Amino acid sequence: MISRRILRIGLELTETFDGTGRIARHLPINIRHHLNTAYTFALKPPIMYSTLLTSLEENIFTITINRPDKLNALNKQVLTDLNAVLDEVYTNPHIKSVIITGSGPKAFVAGADISEFSGLTKEQSKALAKAGQDIFFRIENSPKPIVACVNGFALGGGCELAMSCHFRIASDNAKFGQPEVNLGLIPGYGGTQRLVQLIGKGRALELLMSGSLLDANTALQYGLVNYVVLQEELLQKAKSILAIINTKAPIAVGKCIAAANAVFDETKNGYEVEVTAFGDCFDTPDRVEGTTAFLEKRKPNFSSGGLS
Ligand code: COA
Repeated sequence: MISRRILRIGLELTETFDGTGRIARHLPINIRHHLNTAYTFALKPPIMYSTLLTSLEENIFTITINRPDKLNALNKQVLTDLNAVLDEVYTNPHIKSVIITGSGPKAFVAGADISEFSGLTKEQSKALAKAGQDIFFRIENSPKPIVACVNGFALGGGCELAMSCHFRIASDNAKFGQPEVNLGLIPGYGGTQRLVQLIGKGRALELLMSGSLLDANTALQYGLVNYVVLQEELLQKAKSILAIINTKAPIAVGKCIAAANAVFDETKNGYEVEVTAFGDCFDTPDRVEGTTAFLEKRKPNFSSGGLS
């Protein structure tokens, strides 16, 4: 409701806003900031990407990698688009959580685009791996939850992309694997690290060294995915979980991600990260609202991370 009201105000601003900020100046500075942000995003046409489809519904942003004829393989353009769409994820206050999935019924992402490998020098291939890793770090460190809906093959860079998300849901036809050894390669977008983190060294090394694939139910048993559902129920399953998360305090949700990520970051002491994050949360209007709502026996209405 608030979001609709702000949107309406934003549209009224378009009729009267003359670039001087006159209307906004009459408003308290924090409201002005929200209005200006809402104004900016409400009036911007959706950003188009050549290899991605995006949609925003109920504050859940769905990113669909859209190269179904190539099983959504990650070519340079997809990586460029993913990096750009992450700017949107990080900055658009209407986006509270994100789904990443693949186009078509067959594949999430079947890997890095092998056709772009030929002719790469050693230095260029290292730069490619570094660029992919940097994008996947941005996914992993996003303060907004990002869920992979794995709707088919998640191989090579596709498995790595899914593993960089905060958790994964698979359709029953999903297949996971790091088949790079078949190409004389190893994973380059973080796969050797995150696979060990998620399923343990023994299972990870077996997959990495054999290039064999995991079916969805084995992935569930290994803890690589949280749920296996029918393909037609995949997005709905993710949306129902994200709808719950979206009602929680956004800053606290982001701090959960940061603290959990610290477990795997050797430069950080996770317990210290937790203490700092706890203190930071304590200092937020969301904490005041959450604790007050509990004492008043009503549902909290958090305002920190979005406009709705
Ligand atoms: N890079 C580039 N193109 C790819 C690709 C990849 N990683 N994975 C699939 N494609 C392309 C195929 O070349 C084919 O294109 P074409 O129709 O122009 O020939 C199209 O996607 C469909 O794939 P296809 O192999 O015909 O489908 P399939 O059902 O027979 O096999 C896979 C599916 C996933 C088993 C098979 O495509 C495969 O092994 N892909 C490579 C997986 C891989 O090694 N990933 C790691 C890369 S580092």
